[in-house]
Amino acid sequence: MESTRNKLIQLLAANSEQYISGQLLSDQLKISRSAIWKHMKELEKDGYQIEGKSNKGYRIISYPDKLSENTVRWGLETDWIGKNIIHKESTTSTQHIAHDEARNGAAHGTIIIADEQTKGKGRMNRSWFSTKGKGMWLSIILRPEIAPQQAPQLTLLTATVLADVLQSYCNVKPLIKWPNDILLNNKKTAGILTEMQAEQDIINYIVIGIGLNVNQSTLELSEEIRHKATSLYIETEKENSINALIQEILMTFEKSYDQYIKNGFPDIKQKWESYGFKIGEEITIKTIKDHFHATFLGIEEDGALRIKRTDGSIQRLYSAEIDWFDK
Ligand code: BTN
Repeated sequence: MESTRNKLIQLLAANSEQYISGQLLSDQLKISRSAIWKHMKELEKDGYQIEGKSNKGYRIISYPDKLSENTVRWGLETDWIGKNIIHKESTTSTQHIAHDEARNGAAHGTIIIADEQTKGKGRMNRSWFSTKGKGMWLSIILRPEIAPQQAPQLTLLTATVLADVLQSYCNVKPLIKWPNDILLNNKKTAGILTEMQAEQDIINYIVIGIGLNVNQSTLELSEEIRHKATSLYIETEKENSINALIQEILMTFEKSYDQYIKNGFPDIKQKWESYGFKIGEEITIKTIKDHFHATFLGIEEDGALRIKRTDGSIQRLYSAEIDWFDK
């Protein structure tokens, strides 16, 4: 049942400009014309707007704003990203599914989306709150032909993609806190988790996980994170379509990734620094062994944090937590 319905949506979506006759649909799906008509009524109940004209047939006018493989695919103008979409209403973590799929050979550009994650993963073994229907919980499988040491560049690239989309599409002023937290009004609205399966000098696959708080009100953010997290809705007082955001992010990601593969990291580095939070300012740095103040100079080609210590020495750091003081 479900698969006939999906095939029907795909046939209609592939011909969105034209009507497709009931007879053709019935031939393609191998069901009767009255069964087609019943499916159309079901789709309408689910929020699809379908126009049916005698002598012409059917066409989809609009999709419901519900997350599904079809609704994300509809209108997604990309060459390779999101050609394979896996949608779950609820899952532990889209990262888990992505790893399983990647191990089983899923193509470069496969995406996994969920309405809800029950065990959303953040960086440093933290958990990531992924309330049902309120945010974008997305994992992207990539098979880049770059050296494993370059993988952090893809995380920085993803942060610039998110910042670009939030700025141009949602009209907000995002900043990126090193390495990859997206801040609005000094509070975190999105995070990125990159996980990689690699051998010595070859990447088998990378999974980039993106969590974006979209439509939560303050009370809908867990109490634990409320003081340091925000959502697009809190910042703009507008609800956003998660479907539309996914599409914008995928389209921008594909362009940026293709340019990166062609031209390398310099453009991304420049863009990252244009969004960089506290660049040129004094920050506090916490590493496993140390806790000190330094000036944040920017990022290195390999994604490392470039700082100037109080004794004037320049240092690069790969793993640290940064903080700042409000003067
Ligand atoms: C961070 O700690 O800032 C990274 C958060 C990454 C969360 C996303 S949501 C989609 C994907 N699935 C997960 O379990 N985590 C990532």
